[in-house]
Amino acid sequence: MPLNSDQPSGMGLGSSSGSTSLSDSSDRPFELMEVIEISRSEIEHISDMERVVCDRDGALATLDRAPQFDDRPMPTLPRDQSIVITIDGPAGTGKSSVARTLAKALGLDFLDTGAMYRAAAALAIDNGIAPTDIEGVVRETTKADLHFDWSKDPPTILAFGKPIDHRIRSSDVAEIVSPIATIKLLRDHMVRKQRIIAQQHPRLVTEGRDQGSIVFPDAVVKFYLDASPDVRARRRAEQLMASGHCADLGAITAEILDRDRRDSSRADGPLICPKDAICVDTSDLAFDQVVKTLHRHVLAVVGR
Ligand code: DC
Repeated sequence: MPLNSDQPSGMGLGSSSGSTSLSDSSDRPFELMEVIEISRSEIEHISDMERVVCDRDGALATLDRAPQFDDRPMPTLPRDQSIVITIDGPAGTGKSSVARTLAKALGLDFLDTGAMYRAAAALAIDNGIAPTDIEGVVRETTKADLHFDWSKDPPTILAFGKPIDHRIRSSDVAEIVSPIATIKLLRDHMVRKQRIIAQQHPRLVTEGRDQGSIVFPDAVVKFYLDASPDVRARRRAEQLMASGHCADLGAITAEILDRDRRDSSRADGPLICPKDAICVDTSDLAFDQVVKTLHRHVLAVVGR
């Protein structure tokens, strides 16, 4: 995304709308939110950041008037309504960590939908089902009744009532999860499950590839995180090296580009930036800056 020189830290901010929240069909009482660690001066700083935005087609545009918070009390999240925030984007943009940290800061629950597709891939491998056996993959995943243990932080994923977290980050799972995630019947099943989860956890930050576009089109705030393939490859290489593995930057970049192509070109639930999402290019941003950027936007849109 082209960057305007007025913009702090090389960040791209897109337009936001999508203001209808999910209906709250749960009778679970809303919990008190955690104290929001964001200062008034930080909130006011959004005025500068909001000056550069993307229009609906992604072109840079300038707001005539930045939002003002002058004498109003600092915004906080309403406690009595459902709030679904979606974060989509390609691998390596830090979506998961950002979503989890943002959820914590806002006192919302956190849903990692990639874990669900990874669990489906792990179940296929562990039960000798080929990724091409669509019926077998869908049958096994449905039988496993994937759900999360919300008493854990972050919530852990269960299959057949047992934790399956230890499997889902393995390299054999990583190898087949992308083709598994193209299975339409499986995606339909996951979308249904994710919507049920949001009914039970109506104050939610959910991350994936299709959360704002397909699963929660009425999410109150939608984000799309991006970063250049080079930056994403470097981050992945650093992660691998930190855990004692070798990293071939060229091979990682090629793998990332290949994954992007597959995720974006699949017929069902392709990775796209929803029209009403706020696009944040994280290439030149530190983790904390990304979280703060999103945090400010949520309070600017939903805060009272
Ligand atoms: O975010 P992740 O790397 O854990 O995702 C694992 C795989 O699942 C990846 O190939 C993209 C896919 N995925 C998807 O298709 N839709 C989602 N909502 C989440 C993940």
